[in-house]
Amino acid sequence: MNFDLIRPVLSSQLPADPEWLHRRTIDILALLNRKNQNPVARWLQSQWQDSLCLHDEQLSSSLWGLNFPNPVGLAAGFDKDGAAAGIWGTLGFGFAELGTVTLHAQPGNPRPRLFRLWRDRAALNRMGFNNCGAAQMVLNIKGISPHLRQLVPIGINLGKSKVTPLEESARDYLESFRLLKALGDYFVVNVSSPNTPGLRSLQAPKQLEPILSTLQTENHTTLPILVKISPDLAWEDMAAVVKLAREYELAGIIATNTTIRRDGLQTQVLPKTGKPIAEEAGGISGAPLRSRATQAIRFIWEQTQGEIPIVGVGGIFTAEDAWEKITAGASLVQVYTGWVYEGPAMVKHILTGLLEKLDENGLTHISQAVGMGNRE
Ligand code: FNR
Repeated sequence: MNFDLIRPVLSSQLPADPEWLHRRTIDILALLNRKNQNPVARWLQSQWQDSLCLHDEQLSSSLWGLNFPNPVGLAAGFDKDGAAAGIWGTLGFGFAELGTVTLHAQPGNPRPRLFRLWRDRAALNRMGFNNCGAAQMVLNIKGISPHLRQLVPIGINLGKSKVTPLEESARDYLESFRLLKALGDYFVVNVSSPNTPGLRSLQAPKQLEPILSTLQTENHTTLPILVKISPDLAWEDMAAVVKLAREYELAGIIATNTTIRRDGLQTQVLPKTGKPIAEEAGGISGAPLRSRATQAIRFIWEQTQGEIPIVGVGGIFTAEDAWEKITAGASLVQVYTGWVYEGPAMVKHILTGLLEKLDENGLTHISQAVGMGNRE
């Protein structure tokens, strides 16, 4: 009911540009977010809450002093400006990550820059951090009504502005953090997008260290700060990031961002451009990423024996997929491409399936399943 209004539109069969459709979805959700006092908006939100949300103590958890009503969150990149920041809890998500936001507003890469790969249940994007800038995001978040703001934890994912030279990255992240720190429940240092030149080189300890040190000095380790990593890191490089995360007392690691790998794809030529997929720039998300992202989670869990919370993301469509990530070591999971393909009922389907999984395994709480697969 009323889902057509918010049907995530990458999956639309309309021959329209997926980015245009995505923009319209955000516009509608942003309007409902802003007009929260309007009776129609309120009615819609309560309808969605009734039909899309599932509350069960077995799935709720407390992490970093925050209460997550369920472990399935919206991944970064969907609500880049925080325009619909208050809405995500009404759509059943247990938390939402806004951004990536950069200090300076920027237009991102030339279009077209978002493509569906239907046969692969995947997307290719090279958006390039198109966003309104940190100062505007402040206003957007301040505009959320308190009633919506308290529904679920809100994370803010920070990136480096394209105009900022790589060697000045720490200052760029710091300025965004200063502007937004009073408004987010947790923060993410995104050094793993393949679509900003040189960004992923910031995962190297020499480059990452000054960023983490600058942020934690400002933060006094009070707010949870996480780092989001690429699935394309070699294991030893991933181990180095994990080591640094411990040294700088990060709250967790988000694994993973999109991949630049093209192996195993059914789609060989991008219909929209007519070019071989191997020659198209951008990151792949969705089903082809699932297994590699899970391996990354398992690797981090094994490196830390579960001491650092992991947020698992990449190719989750079903409860089975979410369970795979959780039992590999993820305390929370996020979805993007799967939600776009499956529609808004997906979160509730996953949560219902997770409850069944708990039952099948004789467990009483989702926290008991975290990393379970690595102990067997
Ligand atoms: C993303 N993702 C992303 N990640 C991030 O940290 N900052 C961002 O701005 C974006 N932007 C973005 C745009 C689009 C169109 C997509 C499809 C993805 C990556 C996203 O958060 C997630 O890590 C991956 O998409 C893997 O999850 P799924 O999509 O397979 O569930």
